[in-house]
Amino acid sequence: MKVLVHIDDAEQWRDALARRLPQAEVFTSSAPAEKRREADYLAAWKPSAELLGEPERLKGIVNLGAGVDALLGNPGLPEGVPIVKLRDAGMAELIGDYVRYGILHFQRDFDRYRRQQARRDWREHAVVDKADWPVGVLGLGAIGAKVAAMVAADGFPVHGWSRSPRSLDGITCHHGDAGLDELLGQVRSLVLLLPDTPATRHVIDAAALARLPEGASLINPGRGSLIDEAALLDALGEGETEGRLRGALLDAFPEEPLPGASPLWSHPRVWVTPHMAGPTPLGEALDQVAEALLAFEAGEALDTVDPEAGY
Ligand code: GLV
Repeated sequence: MKVLVHIDDAEQWRDALARRLPQAEVFTSSAPAEKRREADYLAAWKPSAELLGEPERLKGIVNLGAGVDALLGNPGLPEGVPIVKLRDAGMAELIGDYVRYGILHFQRDFDRYRRQQARRDWREHAVVDKADWPVGVLGLGAIGAKVAAMVAADGFPVHGWSRSPRSLDGITCHHGDAGLDELLGQVRSLVLLLPDTPATRHVIDAAALARLPEGASLINPGRGSLIDEAALLDALGEGETEGRLRGALLDAFPEEPLPGASPLWSHPRVWVTPHMAGPTPLGEALDQVAEALLAFEAGEALDTVDPEAGY
């Protein structure tokens, strides 16, 4: 089988995959065009439309990330080619750490202390017990479920939400529109780990933000499209004085890189990180890629992406 690999560090992935699958011919997008045209499989993260359209007999695509929104929205995506995406593959733990940092940032008042430091203001805030700091996790896929479990293991009461009912040990699970309202009404930190689909666009809008308790915080290592940015800025309010929304730690934006003119960059209660919460680690991901390619070759049934659902 011929496998075209496209990702940052593609050479490293090519070499590692070639060692894992000695029977395969693995090459990167810098291989000659005739070679790219012959690829049976594409293992890629955010390929260009041109690259995606090149292979003439593509039998399968492995998305080298968890979210398939960029791939499904790519005009070069050939129709009917099955897609497999990475599931967790070590990303969940990285994202879990990002989320823990975010929760502690607000629960232990690091945001307030940072602002106080600028004023040389030595003043201690009483700690709110973890048991009194419910956390909401929207999205209970492979990543959301693991992140919810990590946060629960830290001692925070965790509420999870998914469109259809789920049941997870140690997590209070909610579902559907009513369940979302129920969750929003009681969490002090809200974590967004939903996929980017037409159904999840602006799930955090003015009404959702208004449901959150006064002083709640938002942590978004998911997708930028989940948040209505104008509503977010409105809920935050201006300047250092805490608005209805205390602060936001944001890793994903509708347009990336976040444009220089975005007011989020300079908002004193917004922390911007450059989509770094869950980079794809090579090790576990490689096992999943190799497994998917072998299953494709053997004609075995695979857990493929549903393009209609968007995940
Ligand atoms: C990163 O954002 C991913 O979807 O893997």
